[in-house]
Amino acid sequence: MEWNSPLSASVSNNKKDLVQITVYEKGSSEPRVIEVPRGANLRKALLENNVDVYTLRGKLTNCGGGGQCGTCVVDVVEGAGFLTPRGVRETRLLTDKGRPDAWRLSCCLRVEGPVTVRTKPQ
Ligand code: FES
Repeated sequence: MEWNSPLSASVSNNKKDLVQITVYEKGSSEPRVIEVPRGANLRKALLENNVDVYTLRGKLTNCGGGGQCGTCVVDVVEGAGFLTPRGVRETRLLTDKGRPDAWRLSCCLRVEGPVTVRTKPQ
């Protein structure tokens, strides 16, 4: 009979609650892989891992993650089904302006599984 210490169960559960984000940063062909807690806000997770989500204009005018400015756009390459469905804010700032369906506002997204994104597609 195998014995599992409470510590190994804790490590196992913690690992299970992490999801991978593969990021292609603008100007780089090499992806970075970061691990974040399941349910993390995508914009916040990227910024906390030193991934720049804003263009110069976005750096000057972003709304700080409030879903109002439309400057935190990422292109979702894989794993769209693991992200929060498109809401009213994204529809107003992206769909209504003719942006591709794969473009999403990172501040409006929770990450529930592995995803691959490209930064600054605009
Ligand atoms: S930071 Fe303004 S819409 Fe995302």
